[in-house]
Amino acid sequence: MNITQSILQTLDESLENITSLDQLDSLHTKYLGRNGKINELLKDLKNIPSEEKKEYGQQVNELKQSIITLIDKKRSIILNDKTGKKIDVTLPGHEYTKGSLHPVTYAIEEISGIFEKIGFIRMSYPEIDWEFFSFEALNMPSDHPARDDFETFFIKQTPHKKFGKMVLTPHTSNGQIREMMRLGKPPMRMINIGKTYRPNWDASHVPMFHQFEGLCIDKRINITHLKGTIEYFAKAYFGEDREIRLRPFHFQFTEPSFEVDITCDICKGTGYVKKSEILSSKSETNSKIIVQNSKSQTKCRLCKAGWLELGGTGMIHPNVLKAGGIDSDEYTGWAFGFGIERVMMMKPNVGLSNVRVLYDGDVRVLEQF
Ligand code: PHE
Repeated sequence: MNITQSILQTLDESLENITSLDQLDSLHTKYLGRNGKINELLKDLKNIPSEEKKEYGQQVNELKQSIITLIDKKRSIILNDKTGKKIDVTLPGHEYTKGSLHPVTYAIEEISGIFEKIGFIRMSYPEIDWEFFSFEALNMPSDHPARDDFETFFIKQTPHKKFGKMVLTPHTSNGQIREMMRLGKPPMRMINIGKTYRPNWDASHVPMFHQFEGLCIDKRINITHLKGTIEYFAKAYFGEDREIRLRPFHFQFTEPSFEVDITCDICKGTGYVKKSEILSSKSETNSKIIVQNSKSQTKCRLCKAGWLELGGTGMIHPNVLKAGGIDSDEYTGWAFGFGIERVMMMKPNVGLSNVRVLYDGDVRVLEQF
């Protein structure tokens, strides 16, 4: 074995045991450095007979090249090991799962945008508030039976001398009084969106839900403004083909009061669907439609005779204006309060038959929005 071969063999053995770049660098110095093996061999050149010098020089140079190649090869192996694996630039990239907003957040954004266009400012009033703002000031003195309509969670807390107990707001109407007090003087056009709480738990109720409260106060405001605004909202949110109606109702804080209904999307306000339509729409609507006696037509199961209930509204009661510090001889106004989950579920093609899935936190549901 000549000297070149034995050097390469020793190098090979040393390289096998090397795991870090530091170790590799010292090996590099050992062979290629100033006092390294190659330079040692070159120093010997002077002892070589002149006719063999050329060949000897060539051999040493070849050896140097082989050493450089071996060390470089090892260097790239160590570097690739560090990054875990070799990079295959032809592989497709990793797909990251994208987050999205909660469907209720989308609805809130959409509703805010619709009212912003007609000059309503968006407010967020407390979700935990004193009884005064949720009841007293809304013409429901303590022990008034109307309070029973708003089953309420109370907070364990020393009652306020003037404002009474603290509650989880059962509706967003506390925002009416707070907005009147904030501005002091009409005109006022506000939309208050917030969380509301009532102890109900079934397919269409959860104890925490959202409402949006509209409020408009100025001189000579009347029911036509109320109806026009709600109609504008209904068409913008649900679609141009939807109609609304006001149905007489009672709220302690509005007079007159109404419930707002909107035409059903499934039966288009007729209350009936053709049998042929049932078959095609059955899968889309979760079998919400049942078959009635009539041969060609069946009653729409989703709505009440063509109409779906949106929520409550009315002209603000003078006592409420007074409680908010507004002169009820000079100003009039209207208000409404609708449930966000409710309007969301009534939107065409949303296909949610149980409100609770919105709050189960199951990504399989949420990622569909
Ligand atoms: N606060 C009422 C409710 O939660 C809705 C409503 C708001 C009715 C404003 C009239 C005026 O049912």
